[in-house]
Amino acid sequence: MKRDVTRPISSNPNLLKWVAKMAELTQPAAIHWVDGSKEENELLCAEMVEKGTFTKLNQSLWPGCYYARSDASDVARVEDRTFICSLSKDTAGPTNNWEDPFEMRKKLKRLFAGSMRGRTLYVLPFSMGPVGSPMAQIGVQLTDSPYVVVNMRIMARIGLAVFKEIDKAEKRVVPCMHSVGAPLNPGQKDVPWPCNPEKYIVHFPETREIWSYGSGYGGNALLGKKCFALRIASNLARDEGWMAEHMLILGVENPQGEKTYVAAAFPSACGKTNFAMMIPPPAFEGWKVWTVGDDIAWIKPDEHGRLHAINPEAGFFGVAPGTSVKTNPNAMAALARNTIFTNVALTPDGGVWWEGMTDTPPAECLDWQGRRWTPEIGRSTGAKAAHPNARFTAPASQCPTIDPDWEKPTGVPIKAFIFGGRRATTMPLVYQAFNWSAGVYTGATMGSEMTAAAAGTVGKVRRDPFAMLPFCGYHMGDYFRHWIKMQRSLSETPRIFHVNWFRKDANGKFIWPGFGENMRVLKWIIDRARGRTVGKETPIGWQPRYEDIDWSGLDFPKEKFEELQAVDRAAWRAEIIGHEELFIDLHDHLPKELIYERELLICRM
Ligand code: OXD
Ligand code: MN
Repeated sequence: MKRDVTRPISSNPNLLKWVAKMAELTQPAAIHWVDGSKEENELLCAEMVEKGTFTKLNQSLWPGCYYARSDASDVARVEDRTFICSLSKDTAGPTNNWEDPFEMRKKLKRLFAGSMRGRTLYVLPFSMGPVGSPMAQIGVQLTDSPYVVVNMRIMARIGLAVFKEIDKAEKRVVPCMHSVGAPLNPGQKDVPWPCNPEKYIVHFPETREIWSYGSGYGGNALLGKKCFALRIASNLARDEGWMAEHMLILGVENPQGEKTYVAAAFPSACGKTNFAMMIPPPAFEGWKVWTVGDDIAWIKPDEHGRLHAINPEAGFFGVAPGTSVKTNPNAMAALARNTIFTNVALTPDGGVWWEGMTDTPPAECLDWQGRRWTPEIGRSTGAKAAHPNARFTAPASQCPTIDPDWEKPTGVPIKAFIFGGRRATTMPLVYQAFNWSAGVYTGATMGSEMTAAAAGTVGKVRRDPFAMLPFCGYHMGDYFRHWIKMQRSLSETPRIFHVNWFRKDANGKFIWPGFGENMRVLKWIIDRARGRTVGKETPIGWQPRYEDIDWSGLDFPKEKFEELQAVDRAAWRAEIIGHEELFIDLHDHLPKELIYERELLICRM
């Protein structure tokens, strides 16, 4: 018998009341309680195919896969439309957009009034982290986008099991309101990708609420990800003594079967997903890198004071362009089935393609806006077949290197943190911070060079502390203080490292080969974290000597290594002045440890 989707699945009175109130505000044509089943998913996908939102891909090539094109104006996170509406502006800090919560609520009420007319309101319960894990958090997203429902089914745990958790009423539930902001009048024909030019991605940190209006894309709309798991969760974590970080988690297993987990933060365009799924070079026989997560880590001390991390997500929302069997065969295997592709190109045989996927592009295809594209058109007009932020939404369980413990409710033990950025100069391949507070200074001051940005800005370093600049849901200075404080509750302090795969020589060529060779750096990091290899003291921290790196199977001359690891004092003076730019903005909230660390660094220079 077919389920009546309009019948509430939960009996939680607060949830029922809230859904009724929000339905009254948004005026949907119907309400659908999401059970998360395969049948429901198939039905929603079929409905979206009918409406033109989805194209079912050639199932013999891409089993279980669908393709979507967004509106050309709705293609990425909108940082300038993202707000942290804390009671006081000072709590949000200078790196966030702030508006008075009272004013913002009035605005949202006006925007959401009738915003779902002619559409279905989906009641979508989700758990960030394995259902029932003591580290998991629960949300309910009310959305008028079926695209969001089927993406969230991959990115989070959704449906019946989560309603059961909600009915236990043991955990606080984060309410997440979402509307694409495109009501339909009676008889009005829908478009494949409804959205609104006016966008608001709003967080109320004190009441732990999210309101998102106008966009159906990625982090703007899949509210479990950046909005909940980072911006709201960073507030929860500060208050409850844990950490919500923009970090990948990976485990390294040596030939003796010893496993060491690390968490790493890199700004965008630094190869985070590739690092999380790295394949060690052939000479590292018996070594294995396991993937726990590629984007977000929730990290908490266990009862013995040792940090453990979970990946709160269940899927990868990865950037497609540049992903190939050469750069990341594990990601390619993960996305081979049951995946949703958005804004890539569609090939005549019902497959997908994006720049960098294969050396030879298809002879012709439809680009991410549905226009005919050929390599010749690409060459002559510069048009890309796939949007640079085209994405795949793929189940993490399909990744060949997914760690057997990736869903362990209590998480995996973290031995080291790694920070990094894209830096052509100054930053060596690897160094270890002297101690926790020096490590926090390293994270607080990290940055990445802007690549193909506007003229004049190429090479300029954008400071992105802990890779959290767009994701920290409160004052960045207080966030640094929280990092400093976290160590006090630990019986074992993870070691902190900085890496840079992108240093260039005098001819502008990358000095380090990168990819699988990064395993050599990772091995030194793990040996240091476990206290079994040497580090040479330098002004910025401990660095490996040439002989401390395992060079088996790679001919990498000592002079090149010295060039890669050089600490140029003149460049570091400029670097420290760059740190000050951010610190001035955060000055009145900056923990004194960071001011002292800066002074010490200057003294050592
Ligand atoms: C992401 C991001 O999409 O960091 O993960 O922007
Ligand atoms: Mn990210």
